[in-house]
Amino acid sequence: GRKWTHVEDLSPALVDQKVLVRGRIHTTRGKGKSAFLVIRQRTATVQAILFADDTTVSKGMVKYATQISKESIVDVEGVVKVPANPIEGCSQKDVELQVTGIRAVSRAAALPFELVDAARSEEEVKAAAERGEIMPTVGQDLRLDNRFLDLRTPANQAIFKLQSAVCQLFKSTLLAEGFQEIHTPKLIAGASEGGAAVFRLDYMGTPACLAQSPQLYKQMAICADCDRVFEVGPVFRAEQSYTHRHLCEFMGLDLEMAIHEHYFEVLDVIEKLFEAIFNGLATTYAKELAVVATQYPFDIPTFKPLRLTFPEGIAMLREGGYPDVDPLGDLNTELERALGRMVKEKYGTDFFILHRYPSAVRPFYTMPCSDDPTYSNSYDVFIRGEEIISGAQRVHDADLLTERAKACGVPVETIQSYIDSFKLGAPPHGGAGVGLERVVMLYCALGNIRKTSMFPRDPKRLTP
Ligand code: 4AD
Repeated sequence: GRKWTHVEDLSPALVDQKVLVRGRIHTTRGKGKSAFLVIRQRTATVQAILFADDTTVSKGMVKYATQISKESIVDVEGVVKVPANPIEGCSQKDVELQVTGIRAVSRAAALPFELVDAARSEEEVKAAAERGEIMPTVGQDLRLDNRFLDLRTPANQAIFKLQSAVCQLFKSTLLAEGFQEIHTPKLIAGASEGGAAVFRLDYMGTPACLAQSPQLYKQMAICADCDRVFEVGPVFRAEQSYTHRHLCEFMGLDLEMAIHEHYFEVLDVIEKLFEAIFNGLATTYAKELAVVATQYPFDIPTFKPLRLTFPEGIAMLREGGYPDVDPLGDLNTELERALGRMVKEKYGTDFFILHRYPSAVRPFYTMPCSDDPTYSNSYDVFIRGEEIISGAQRVHDADLLTERAKACGVPVETIQSYIDSFKLGAPPHGGAGVGLERVVMLYCALGNIRKTSMFPRDPKRLTP
């Protein structure tokens, strides 16, 4: 086969060499006997020039090149040249291609929007408006309707590399901590996180649902002596809430582990995990973070291990301008964000753990505190004052579990096999569930979870 060069590898080191690249037509400009194309491969761009000299390049070829529609995929053969001035706007600005051959491989139909418009930053638009110019932008619904085009922007390319990185860092850190990866069923008999937000379906004539989490099964893996497990898999929630942070399907990064004395053993793992994720992104993925920030400006979040009890959090809120906060209620979005701001100011970290939540606001499987069952051995973890994790030590006694399920209105018959798995001896254990899309959204302060889901599912969207 022929030798292909990546656009991102084109540099003055290749001057006068003949190369072959495959990319998309990013922009085209024809002028008399010449054509100026920008060829894009993923996020790398290079200028390609055709000049009709009637030897290698004919007038017909120049015309053919200028008529290939934007976003079409082309094979370009050319000689690497160093231009007199850098080509501003191209990533490979120190070189250009003197085209000797071009062929359309796959032509693009009319575009629903221009990619350059979709890649424009708000700041650029604002600055233009101040000069009296109108720069087009692309609204979120139009983007999501044409996601396969929208995903080609540099910021989106970077966002999904970051998403992949978070998954890899989650896996590698836990593997190093002695965890094993498991895969649990997504077709299950009953709700795992409470009955309301569950997708129901027919399973060969039996009512069933899509798993709202691997909760019950990761615990059963602990009962099966797996000791420390994690799973990366889809989680389904029939959320009616149309918000910036809820999806109907998201990627759950779950972990579960046997503990010896205290649920703090789980918190130790969570802190190690997020220290690795924060450091891994900031060092190895600095380029991707910078690309995202070009379109959506943000500051890299700070990580410090910090644990506050729920009552301590309530006290901070009460002193900080929310005197009426319910000490035994759950925190709403506004209160969580307010607490996040106060924590940032006082302790200088965008990451913190809040633990010892009131039992009444936690799921049935949560272990009550031994010194005061009003509270529980549970925790939430926050980045920039928004929840990314919830977790707890679990009840590992079958009788107490049955009692708690009944008290919480969970139909015991649908989870009988789960309850039974604790009857043959179960170690004390705890774990956590992380929302992948939320981690990336909050790390990059993107403000909307649809930006970090490749093909988001929300109450109003099932396609593409
Ligand atoms: O808080 P949740 O529902 O907790 C559980 O699923 C437990 N089984 C976890 C455990 O191990 N005890 O979900 C866990 C995380 C949340 O902190 C949030 O990051 C994310 O999953 N999450 C969602 N992300 C997107 N859309 C939704 N609708 C989400 N619901 C929860």
